[in-house]
Amino acid sequence: MSDAPLSPPAPIVVRREDYRPPEWLVPEVALDFDLDPALTRVKAVLAVRRNAGDGPLRLDGGGQQPLAVRVDGAKAEWRMEGDQLVIPLAGEAHSVETEVEIAPETNTQLMGLYASGGLLCTQCEAEGFRRITFFPDRPDILVRYQVKLTADQRQFPVLLSNGDRVGAGMMPDGRHWAEWHDPFPKPGYLFALVAGDLAVNRDSFTTMSGRVVELGIWVAEADLPRTGHAMAALKAAMAWDERVYGREYDLDVFNIVAVADFNFGAMENKGLNIFNSRYILADPETATDADFDAIAGVVAHEYFHNWSGDRVTCRDWFQLSLKEGFTVYRDQEFSADMGSAAVKRIEDVRVLRAAQFPEDAGPLAHPVRPESYMEIANFYTATVYNKGAELIRMMATMLGPERFRAATDLYFARHDGTAATCEDFVVAMEEGGGIDLSRFRLWYTQAGTPRVAASLTHAPGSGKAVLRLAQTLPPTPGQPDKQPQPLPLRVALFGEASGARLCDERLVVLDEAQAEVVFDGIGERPLLSINRGFSAPVIVDTDRSAAELAFLSAHDDDPFARYEAMQQLMLDRLVATVSGGDGDPAPVVAAVRATIADPTLDPAFVGEAIVLPSEAFIGDQLASVDPDAVARARDGLRQAILDGIGHGAWRALWAANRDNRYELDPRAKGRRRLKNVALGYLLADEAPDAVALAADQYRYADNMTDRLAALQLLASTRGATRDAVLADFHDRWADNGLVLDKWFTAQALSTRADVVELVEALARHPAFTLANPNRARALIGAFATNQRGFHAADGRGYRFVADMLIALDRLNPQTAARLVPPLGRWRRFEPGRAALMKAQLEHILAAPRLSKDVYEQASKSLG
Ligand code: ARG
Ligand code: ZN
Repeated sequence: MSDAPLSPPAPIVVRREDYRPPEWLVPEVALDFDLDPALTRVKAVLAVRRNAGDGPLRLDGGGQQPLAVRVDGAKAEWRMEGDQLVIPLAGEAHSVETEVEIAPETNTQLMGLYASGGLLCTQCEAEGFRRITFFPDRPDILVRYQVKLTADQRQFPVLLSNGDRVGAGMMPDGRHWAEWHDPFPKPGYLFALVAGDLAVNRDSFTTMSGRVVELGIWVAEADLPRTGHAMAALKAAMAWDERVYGREYDLDVFNIVAVADFNFGAMENKGLNIFNSRYILADPETATDADFDAIAGVVAHEYFHNWSGDRVTCRDWFQLSLKEGFTVYRDQEFSADMGSAAVKRIEDVRVLRAAQFPEDAGPLAHPVRPESYMEIANFYTATVYNKGAELIRMMATMLGPERFRAATDLYFARHDGTAATCEDFVVAMEEGGGIDLSRFRLWYTQAGTPRVAASLTHAPGSGKAVLRLAQTLPPTPGQPDKQPQPLPLRVALFGEASGARLCDERLVVLDEAQAEVVFDGIGERPLLSINRGFSAPVIVDTDRSAAELAFLSAHDDDPFARYEAMQQLMLDRLVATVSGGDGDPAPVVAAVRATIADPTLDPAFVGEAIVLPSEAFIGDQLASVDPDAVARARDGLRQAILDGIGHGAWRALWAANRDNRYELDPRAKGRRRLKNVALGYLLADEAPDAVALAADQYRYADNMTDRLAALQLLASTRGATRDAVLADFHDRWADNGLVLDKWFTAQALSTRADVVELVEALARHPAFTLANPNRARALIGAFATNQRGFHAADGRGYRFVADMLIALDRLNPQTAARLVPPLGRWRRFEPGRAALMKAQLEHILAAPRLSKDVYEQASKSLG
């Protein structure tokens, strides 16, 4: 016997190449739920049919024990192998019945059937269904469901599941039942049920073929007045998917339920979407403009999944981006159509750069179609979702709108009712769009963000300009050598003298390591506008001077490129300052002044363009980050912009964008955005009159956008005003959980030097709990993105997050695992911080009974 301490077995690695078709299919299932928060009984009758091989039937479980197993009505032989129920079967087709008991109220993982605010609800993607009943829990088993729900009528008057309700009735003992049939075969991850005391906002939608669909958004009675925006978004999304993709809804009912405890945003269960309540509930008093936009985007996203996810699902979880990348692209385009397309693109690129580029540059980098995982929940990432969406966007750009539509029509027609692969999607793009995407497939297999070096030369008198392009793709874990990928770059040239565009925009597809592109008829010195619209998700390095960037920030006719020129101008100054070089702020101040003064620009665009890059993004440009130096450089430039433009001018800009009365239209939203950016500059030096102005805005605001903007800015200041507005906000919203989350986040993001202590104290606040994922993310998740606090030089921020993570892992491994990546970036920081971060990863790995979710992320982060 060895006396080495017992360490748990390393989790099993699942590999894409190991995919095999299922041995048994399940054409139909009948589920019978006797619902009770303490003890729910689930009876399942599976019709099974042999598909391949000669093995026994294997049903996945989630730790529960079978109370009974019957085959064709008789007691049968079975055994457990780990969590799997294994049943030897003699024939080709059988009826298999199992019975289990589960306890929803003790389910803190929020996967499977759980209790939330008096409701019972489910979350099954990716592998939660096995925690409800023994089942072949893989996405390529498509099953027709009949579901009977029985529960106490008073406690759970509403009983919902997928599909159509076919019957309901009372029982003699005060219980009642409802039966739901879903005519569309679906994998277990799309199963859902909800039981509770819910009120409904009802509406209807008439589809393109004239069918009337009954819509319902189900929430607690008191929340009904906050469901209007989500309902309007749902109807807009239904109409948009018909118009843009020709996709019609297919059931007679579409229900959405909002729940307070939810691991992520929302879930596309067939005909019964379940949402984190933060993506449903909104009114001007409690929700910001960003909340309203996020609600519309997520409602549309889940609705669009009905085709890109439910009608055509994934063969295995390595194909996750098939549904998620495509559906994110669809929701991005929907939101672009509903508001300002330019501003939406800027926001989406900002998200990609904040979340996906760092992921792709770190220890957790993985391809859009991963090759292996220990825990699939760790692969619901910015790479699979947001980079995946960029891949679809690149294909759409190369095809153009008509051919892209023909290709998606082919994809839906060919794969409807099946479980498909990313390869199937690319083939449909090729055949439906008439294009060769052989090399483009590399985007699905290679991780990392490509870098493009671009330089433009012009020989005066020749009329020729030559653009030299070279791409590189850095090594990522397990992928030392890379091949060039096709990069669609939208390019244009501008005349420095004339200010005019010198040529039509060209789509240059760089599919080699290097290329030269020649432009003819260029009579004056040209300036380069490249990756317009952010047509490829790459980092472009150019040799453009501050003067050239300033010129483009005033003259480029592509809004994204114009924004980008300004950001690059700022970034170059900031990086120079941090590295001890020439960080002269004058060109930035001049460009900001010109942008503010341009009357042709949309205020929303101006607001985006003049915002300084985040400290995290500045850090991403550096070989080794010293957060203090980054903070100093950014504060310095902010102060220089405040002084250079002048307090008076900023105050005038603030006043000019003030409205007397709240409206939700895009113009009013843009004005609020610009006004609050101006307020941010005014508060750069905490001048007493600026603090007073923010306090007034806080006090007299008629909407949450303005109130929260003031609160967030004041949270970084010192003094009685800050304390008073924070106390006021807390008392005003103490019983609205979603608004109280904002109160926690505003303080977690504070730039005050003592932010770590403030956040530690907030973790002891009576309203703080790790049991609610929104609350945990509002404080801990937000703090981990605060470059000043989290990276405090003494390591106290790291220790705080690591300890919270370990505590959270006992309750909810999925949510805990999402706190690992900020620590995993240790290689990017100066040696002192890197050592402190590593030590916390080791501390996490040493914790007893670690989940495989956290184990995978922490061990890979150290590796
Ligand atoms: N499919 C859902 C959505 O994107 C998200 C499910 C997330 N699941 C998970 N295990 N993280 O709409
Ligand atoms: Zn999705």
